[in-house]
Parts: sequence; C-alpha cells; structure tokens
Amino acid sequence: MRFEAFSRRAADQRCDCLVIGAFEQGELGTEGAAVDRATRGRVKALLSRGDFSGRNGETLLLPDMTGLRSPRLLLVGLGTKAQFNRRAWRRAMIQAITALAHTRVNSAALALERPAARELDDYYFGRASAEITGSSLYRINDLKTSRRAPRPRLATVFVGPVGVASIAEVRRGLINGAALGESVGLLRNLGNLPPNICTPRYLAAQARELQGRYRRQVRVRIFDEAGIKRLKMGCFLAVTRGSEEPPRFIVLEYRGGRRGRAPVVLVGKGVTFDTGGISLKDPPAMDEMKYDMCGAATVLAAIDFAARAKLRLNVVGLVPACENMPDGRAIKPGDIVTSASGQTVEILNTDAEGRLILCDALNYARRYGPDVVVDFATLTGACLIALGNHHSGVMGNDDALARELVDAGVRTDDRAWQLPLTEEYAEQLRSNFADMANVAGREGGAITAAAFLGKFTQGMRWAHMDIAGTAWLSGAAKSATGRPLALVSDFLTRRAAL
Ligand code: BES
Ligand code: MN
Ligand code: ZN
Repeated sequence: MRFEAFSRRAADQRCDCLVIGAFEQGELGTEGAAVDRATRGRVKALLSRGDFSGRNGETLLLPDMTGLRSPRLLLVGLGTKAQFNRRAWRRAMIQAITALAHTRVNSAALALERPAARELDDYYFGRASAEITGSSLYRINDLKTSRRAPRPRLATVFVGPVGVASIAEVRRGLINGAALGESVGLLRNLGNLPPNICTPRYLAAQARELQGRYRRQVRVRIFDEAGIKRLKMGCFLAVTRGSEEPPRFIVLEYRGGRRGRAPVVLVGKGVTFDTGGISLKDPPAMDEMKYDMCGAATVLAAIDFAARAKLRLNVVGLVPACENMPDGRAIKPGDIVTSASGQTVEILNTDAEGRLILCDALNYARRYGPDVVVDFATLTGACLIALGNHHSGVMGNDDALARELVDAGVRTDDRAWQLPLTEEYAEQLRSNFADMANVAGREGGAITAAAFLGKFTQGMRWAHMDIAGTAWLSGAAKSATGRPLALVSDFLTRRAAL
C-alpha cells in the first residue's frame, strides 16, 4: 500500500476513484460543492431526487463521471451534521474502503469531511486513515479451494485535501499507520490460522522470519523443551506435558534505542490450542481456542511494527508457546509444581493454564532490568463477561503505566479499561499445600488471574492486558480483530519519543 497526502482541490486530484462525503438532508461535505460544480450539478441533482440519503456508512458508486480528474465518484454517507464525530467518520471510512475493495479501482482519493481537530488532530487523522484502509482491505488467508473472493486491487490512497500547515504531521501519521496496517495483517493471519498449522514451532519460525527480515535490528533466540527445562520453568513445563507438540520459548530483541537503555519487555500468551486439559472445556465453540495465542501474535506483531516504524527504542518480546491438552501424562488437578521463581503452585484447574506459562516468562523478564513489562493474554472468560468485546482489561502494579496504556487506547480507538488490582484479590489464591493455587473461584476472575501474575512481577513496573474479549470476533464474523496492536503501537511510538 502507498499513502500520500494531497493539497489540491479534490476535484483536481487524479485517481481511479474520488471519494466525497454527504450528510443527511442533502448537505455535501466541504469538497462536495466544488465537485458538484465540476460535474455540472450532478451530485446535488442526485441528492434532491432522494437517490442517496446520507445515512452514516451508506455508499453509492457513480461510474462514468465527467468534469473530474477521476472517472468514478464514490459518495459516502456521513450521517447528520450535528452527530458527525470521530466515530461516525471512522464508520464512513470503513464503508468507503469496503466499497472500493469490491471494485477494480487501483487508486483512490479520500476527501471525506474530517472530524473536528480536537477529536482527531493531523497526526492521528493520517494514522487512522492508513490504519482503517489497511484493516478494511484485510482478507482472511483461508484454505478454500474454490470460490475464493478476489483480492482487492486498491494499492494507492491519496488523503486530503490537507493544508500546508498540516501536511507534515498528516504524512507522519500516514507512515506510522501504514506500518501498523502491515503488522496488524501479520497478527490477524497468525490468529486465524488453524491450530494444526499455527503450532509453537510455527510461531518460532515466524519469529525467525522477523530476524531474517530485519537483520540489523531484530535478534531471536528460541528454547526447545530441554532449554525450557534448563530455565527451570516448572509451571510452563506442566502445561505442555499433555501435548505431543513440542513447546517453544521465544525471545525477540529489537534494538532501536541507545545501547544500554532499559527495554520495554512485552510478554504474550502463546497457547496455540486450549482444550482445558484434564479440566476439559465444553465442546461449543472450542475451535475458537485456536485464538488463545493472540497475545503471542500481538508481541510478534509489535516487534514487526517497531522494526517497520524504526522506533528508537529497545523492545524485548517473550513468548511461551505450547498446547494445553488432556493425556495420560497431562497435569492433574491437585498437582504441585515449582515455578522458575522458586514459588510453588497447586494446580487446581488445568484450564487456568495461561497464567502458568506467563508467570515463568514474566520471571524471565527480570534479567533485562526492564523499564516496564506489559503482558498480553486471552486470559479469562471473566474479562469477556465484565467488559464485553469493547474494552480490553488493564491491570497491574503501576497506575501511571496502566494510564499510559488506557490513553493510547483512547487515541487509537482501541480502547482498554483499568480494573482494580488491589491486595485482597491475591489473598483469594491461598492454598493449604503450596505457596499459591492457580485459581480463586468465579468472582472477580479477571482480577484474580492478574493477581496470580502479580506474584511474579514484584519490583518491576508491570501491566497486564486481558484481551480475551477483544482479540477475535465470534459467529458469522469469526476472525481475529488485530486488537490490541493499534494501542500497543501508539504506546511504543510515544515511548520512543521520550
Ligand atoms: N483461554 C481461556 C480464556 C478464554 C475463555 C478466553 C473463553 C476467551 C474465551 C483460559 O485459558 C481459560 O480457560 N480460563 C479459565 C480460567 C478459570 C479456569 C479460572 C476461564 O476463563 O474459564
Ligand atoms: Mn484455559
Ligand atoms: Zn487459555
């Protein structure tokens, strides 16, 4: 994809399709009047006949236009003028790109109305334009052998018109958003792959590929089962016991910052399939547990993004990857294991496996003397119940860090909400037989899971993001969403500028 900001009038922008907005009640956007004049009133005539209502997200493609530098004009509905805000703009943009994806158009100029600058400044306007374009053009990398939908042709997008005072910032946003769009594609592809393909070894191979692509900046180290044993990661090893697929512990180091500057460490849950183990899950929707590696994919994609955007920051990615399967050798409820930190854990429910692999990875983060540590995990059904699929959950031991993540989510429309990780929750994890149990009952389940992780992050500035509700959609729209990479990319970009 190529993105460019333009400053001439939209009617004068050469491309395969010009896109302009129209409000309800027949009012055109700012560029509309000029386009209407250039087309000798065809646009207004069509609106007054009632052929286009202007409802938010409605689209109408007009082929065969004359008077413009583009043979086609796409009208997109912006909704009412009074209610036109960032959200309405985003929806209109998504529908416009979706309509373009169904045409044979190679290049398009987006000249919709912009939301007020206080809602979306120049940088974020550019960033969101590129990000929305990239994600609306995403196609599942499916394994269908017939009737595969054709790939969209759109390859060049012009955004504007942008005034001279704004163009540099819009460009900066477009570049950052274009990088994000590519990395989101990687994240979604990894999530959508079937679990017989996307195994721990596959994730390790993807990490190696990043190393190959970004030779100078990205270093990768991969531990196999013997290596994980040497690291004494007893909790991680407990989860993988029941699986025939060998586990991997993947370490990625992106070196974009000053040598010796403390890194941001990102940790991602990489359960490539979660059956629940001996505490077996119910059959309905169990296939969706192939998405239980979306935290891991977020970390790989974040490293990919850092390298693409050439962030001046050191970032470490840690990915414990394995399956959670029932088997004669599998862990049982009641088993007690020793974590890499030395603390013992009584495993009361083998389906609470995410925290077991994460606790050993979080402990590994210590050796980097990290500035901050953030983990990403499809950790609890309870988080999905609490926040639905609108907000990711944020918890941790440092409110300023949690705030940074929440704020990044607001700026990128990839929202997250902080839940209160106070001391009481950790007390619920008491065990009569070990230092702690791995579960603490149904109440506050998203937070007690975080409290478990908190026992392994003491002394480090740490935040945990539970993305169980946001990482993928179910039902007819079943697909990885690419969340929370927009949030993470903004978080990292801002930190690089510090
Ligand atoms: N991967 C699941 C969490 C999950 C479930 C995410 C459904 C999205 C949709 C996790 O490993 C799990 O099974 N968690 C248990 C924890 C419980 C046993 C304390 C859960 O949420 O039920
Ligand atoms: Mn589970
Ligand atoms: Zn899981």
